[in-house]
Amino acid sequence: MYRDPVQSLQPAQHSIATTMAMPAATRPLRVGMIGIGTVGAGTFRVLARNQDVVAARAGRGIEVVVVAARNLARAAGVVGTGVALTNDPMQVATHPDVDVVVEAAGGTGPAREWLLAAMAAGKHVVTANKALLAVHGNELFAAARQHGVALAYEGAVAVSIPIIKALREGLTANRIEWVAGIINGTTNFILSKMRDEGLGFAQALEQAQALGYAEADPAFDIEGVDAAHKITLLAANAFGMPVRFADAQVEGITALQGLDVACAEQLGYRIKLLGVARKRSDGVELRVQPALVPATHLLAHVNGSMNGIMVKGDAAGVTMYYGAGAGSEQTASAVIADLVDVARLDGTNAAQRVPHLGFHAHAVDEHLAVLPGAAVHTRHYLRVPVHLAQDIGAVGAWLAAQQVPVAQVVLAADKALPPGSGAQVLVLTDAVAQATVDLAVHALAAHPAVAGPVISLRVEMLDA
Ligand SMILES: NC(=O)c1ccc[n+]([C@@H]2O[C@H](COP(=O)([O-])OP(=O)(O)OC[C@H]3O[C@@H](n4cnc5c(N)ncnc54)[C@H](OP(=O)(O)O)[C@@H]3O)[C@@H](O)[C@H]2O)c1
Repeated sequence: MYRDPVQSLQPAQHSIATTMAMPAATRPLRVGMIGIGTVGAGTFRVLARNQDVVAARAGRGIEVVVVAARNLARAAGVVGTGVALTNDPMQVATHPDVDVVVEAAGGTGPAREWLLAAMAAGKHVVTANKALLAVHGNELFAAARQHGVALAYEGAVAVSIPIIKALREGLTANRIEWVAGIINGTTNFILSKMRDEGLGFAQALEQAQALGYAEADPAFDIEGVDAAHKITLLAANAFGMPVRFADAQVEGITALQGLDVACAEQLGYRIKLLGVARKRSDGVELRVQPALVPATHLLAHVNGSMNGIMVKGDAAGVTMYYGAGAGSEQTASAVIADLVDVARLDGTNAAQRVPHLGFHAHAVDEHLAVLPGAAVHTRHYLRVPVHLAQDIGAVGAWLAAQQVPVAQVVLAADKALPPGSGAQVLVLTDAVAQATVDLAVHALAAHPAVAGPVISLRVEMLDA
């Protein structure tokens, strides 16, 4: 099954030779793929299955001519005999017979080199690699502009939801006020299990892994990093700012307790891992955190491994997008949409294409700063373990004295509490700066009525 990388280029070159004489706009778009795993194989399969409808939309065929993988026998099992194989991704990136490179390998090191080499060689690139774009996006978008090629990435965010296209094209009339969403299926699956079945975080994670919803190393998902990659890209498109992943406030769900999921429920809320990007007069909020959402809110009903994103535009109002956030053919749907765009724009004037971040490069606001987390104002939920239920009055009064605007104070109902957990005071605040809440929570720990660590989570109303 192993095909020598050099010799294996021969069969595909034969089919390329017959197409070389045709004008670029009518001959098939020739694709080189780096990676033929979950995303790559799905892309290959859907391209083959739907080639007629894809060609009808693109105005020309789209053909995979060469694929790079490490395990060539496995790759051959996916692509059959008509496609050249190599284990050198650079050969695909710079192959003279390739018009567009699909990077479906992952990682931020070599993948950056492959994309830079491909673009320097005049090739368009398509990637679903959000980590790569979050970390190296500014450099890669600049390289794409320099070489006049497309760098398309619909598959990098909430795969089956065309959210990049929605922000960049459909909502182009709007000043975007905020984008918020559930953009990591693994953590949403875990949170749904914690709520529906009363599981702890560790048990819910185990189930997610057993069912294939979580990687063997789930760190990027459960620590909020994957969602932060995506909200960073959404913020850049929404507000016309550079990609500022390093400034994002990132908190995952590893420390979340089942007790808070149950107490939130008692108060009429559900806990979701939200990515939020919000434009303020003095900058942009860019953050990923577990937050309480009203149980009646549409986002509260995005369950299991599904994704949901809301966008507030000044003209359109609030719009919502729902769909699968991962999966082989679900991601292929986005990757192929990008390939169809490339097939249509290949050979056109680069200055007239949709800009990579929706705003023309000269209009991207380099000075738009990400606000520090301490300055962000939202409502908050606090859970305060107390020695005696009667201490509820003291906690409320003490918080009010610390400038925390208390909206509601109740005791956790017995049914929300595991045996032996003691009395818990639940507090909902009005909007208040994170810094004020952090100070109050820190000081509250020393209050004689308090029996354990105070938990604080944001409450996101997402209603205006
Ligand atoms: N899976 C999803 O649902 C999903 C959704 C959205 C975005 N993405 C993104 O899409 C990308 C790919 O994810 P995936 O799930 O498809 O990964 P995957 O199943 O692990 O597949 C990766 C592929 O890349 C190949 N590869 C990796 N490093 C290589 C190297 N140095 N040289 C040659 N080939 C190499 C692998 O070859 P071998 O198999 O031969 O080792 C494999 O074919 C990632 O950036 C991921 O974040 C994935």
